[in-house]
Amino acid sequence: MTKRWTLRGAQTEYTVAVPAHGRWLELVAWGPHGVSDGPSPVGYDGPVPFLTKGDAAPVEYATETERPFAGADLVVEARSSLRFVSAAAADDRLAVTFADPVNGLRAVLQYRIPAGTDVVERWVELVNEGPDPLRLARAGSAGFCVPTPHGARISYQWGQWAQEFQLAHVDLAHGTFAVGSAQGVPGHLYVPWLAVNDQEDPAGVWGVGLAWTGSWKIQAERDTGGLTRVRVGRGLVDGPLDLAPGERLTLPTAAGAYSADGLGGLARVWHAYQRHLAGERLTPRPVLYNSWEATYFAVDADSQLALARVAAGIGVETFVVDDGWFTGRGDDTGGLGDWTPDPAKFPAGFDAFVADVRALGLRFGLWVEPECVNPRSRLYAEHPDWVYSVDGQPLTQVRNQYLLDLGRPEVAEFVHGTVDGLLRKHAIDYLKWDFNRPRTEPGRPGATGPVDLDGAHVANLWRIYERLRRDHPHVIIEACAGGGARTDLGMAARADVFWPSDNTGPLDRLAIQHGFLHANAPHLLSSWVTDAPGLFDPRPRSLAFRFVLAMAGVLGIGADIRRWSAQERAEAARWIARYKEIREIVMHGTVHLIGGPGQARCAVQYLSPDERTAVVLAWHTGRLDGAGLLPSRPVRLPLRGLRPQARYGTGDQHYSGSHLTTAGLPVQWTAAHDADVIVLHRD
Ligand code: DGJ
Repeated sequence: MTKRWTLRGAQTEYTVAVPAHGRWLELVAWGPHGVSDGPSPVGYDGPVPFLTKGDAAPVEYATETERPFAGADLVVEARSSLRFVSAAAADDRLAVTFADPVNGLRAVLQYRIPAGTDVVERWVELVNEGPDPLRLARAGSAGFCVPTPHGARISYQWGQWAQEFQLAHVDLAHGTFAVGSAQGVPGHLYVPWLAVNDQEDPAGVWGVGLAWTGSWKIQAERDTGGLTRVRVGRGLVDGPLDLAPGERLTLPTAAGAYSADGLGGLARVWHAYQRHLAGERLTPRPVLYNSWEATYFAVDADSQLALARVAAGIGVETFVVDDGWFTGRGDDTGGLGDWTPDPAKFPAGFDAFVADVRALGLRFGLWVEPECVNPRSRLYAEHPDWVYSVDGQPLTQVRNQYLLDLGRPEVAEFVHGTVDGLLRKHAIDYLKWDFNRPRTEPGRPGATGPVDLDGAHVANLWRIYERLRRDHPHVIIEACAGGGARTDLGMAARADVFWPSDNTGPLDRLAIQHGFLHANAPHLLSSWVTDAPGLFDPRPRSLAFRFVLAMAGVLGIGADIRRWSAQERAEAARWIARYKEIREIVMHGTVHLIGGPGQARCAVQYLSPDERTAVVLAWHTGRLDGAGLLPSRPVRLPLRGLRPQARYGTGDQHYSGSHLTTAGLPVQWTAAHDADVIVLHRD
């Protein structure tokens, strides 16, 4: 007899069943409340010539035996086949246990929908209860089944350094679309985020993400019967995983999200989930100044204090000294590993410098990259064996540095001790944790047999983050990896904010943030106002544009503000004050992405949790010269979540909710007015 369970989220439900044969768990329905009340949109019980039943069924987690041709989630060498054993269920969670009676493998499929969210978390616990070691050639976290009867449309994000989070779409009639990283870090190239919808229904969208800060793979395959199955999990870049008798392995959490309101609605589902992950750390992020673009490696007390004085004067709250503050760090060829403030740069002592910054009324932040080491460092001279390497083979340098093997307990102790020591020794409130190279060497000196380097690195990285958060709860941690190469749901649960890209050029940044906000909540979006023309994107935009852009998440300034005129500083102070007025709503509000960087309409609306205030940040994406612009009507920004009959006012101007929703909020761009913040209050 079939056994069946439904998990309920805020708006959605997820129903699974074990068929009478007991060989797998399968999806019945996943969508809005009530969707399971009717014949399954994904189920199939017809003939399967030249295939097996499992290849066509909406299997939740399949071995190769059950799904030999259409893609298994778990591949155990010499085969494994699972049988249902038992289940434990509550409203918001479910654990279904399967076991292989031949080799003793036990797999517990875990499900949970955190309260108030529409995200189903899925992870698998494997235990080897047999007498022999087991070797896993593939260890996926989950398969998510999506009904796509008229073809699948896949949304994904690609990128490269300085061009991360580029939102793109592909129509998939049949076959496979795959993204991933083999870099030991989520990477710049793709984001561990994917969305699927039926080509004839853009409203209903299913999304998948992975909480894994190492190598990963997401693969969507649409079969001939109209089912798209998304497999998600670790990329086993170090070879198969061995599971010794008695050993237990918990695979990373895969997350599935559903929205009936298109990609924008799906973004809101992810935002709510990440706010849940942040928990009590979802506090207003400070307005920060970061010195990287102003001084690069030429850090010293005088230059930093000159910047800090201006920063304090315009309303900045936290001053962050970026790369270059420690011994041997005149450029990127040395210093990493030797985490002592350079006495030549801070002649009166580092603590005296920090005290001077704090005396300006600023909190203090510091950049670190503790997993990396330059060959030109004391650390490397003392511990050359601590870096990833393959015996006898030359080491690969990326940005003149090697990567420490964080999976080794002594290295993890060193990394934790370094950061913890800095936080204990100096008055630090903010940490920017960087990571500027992928892992290239798949080896550990002296290791015999395969080692799960990726798994060990991620496990220790997470442990260190967790210890630091526990022991220094007031310290905000920004995760960075040469820009946005380390953003995944595992990091979203452990870091407070992400640095999405080194590209702060206005129009490039607009596209980066547009993609980023589809996958990540605003409290995770660190963004700086930098000087014009920018490093990457020389297309001119006003200071206002750059401020409004950085206000879309966590506002920071990265410009050389020593050079700013009195007028520019006064304007900056006004924007910062304005940001402080709206940041609670930016952090907690419901986000509606309006248009996009390639469209005439480009704005983000944040609706306050009480729905009384709408904050609209809008940007002019078109030409700034006059040609062809006149006559022109204003751009109209259709707002969401308003009461049609209510009135909403900004200054002397009032509109009905109906007008703002259907006609849209009018904004007239000119060459001198290329961005705006409009705050509408319900009367
Ligand atoms: C890469 C980061 O993305 C930058 O913001 C900066 O911190 C540099 N590293 C410092 O080396």
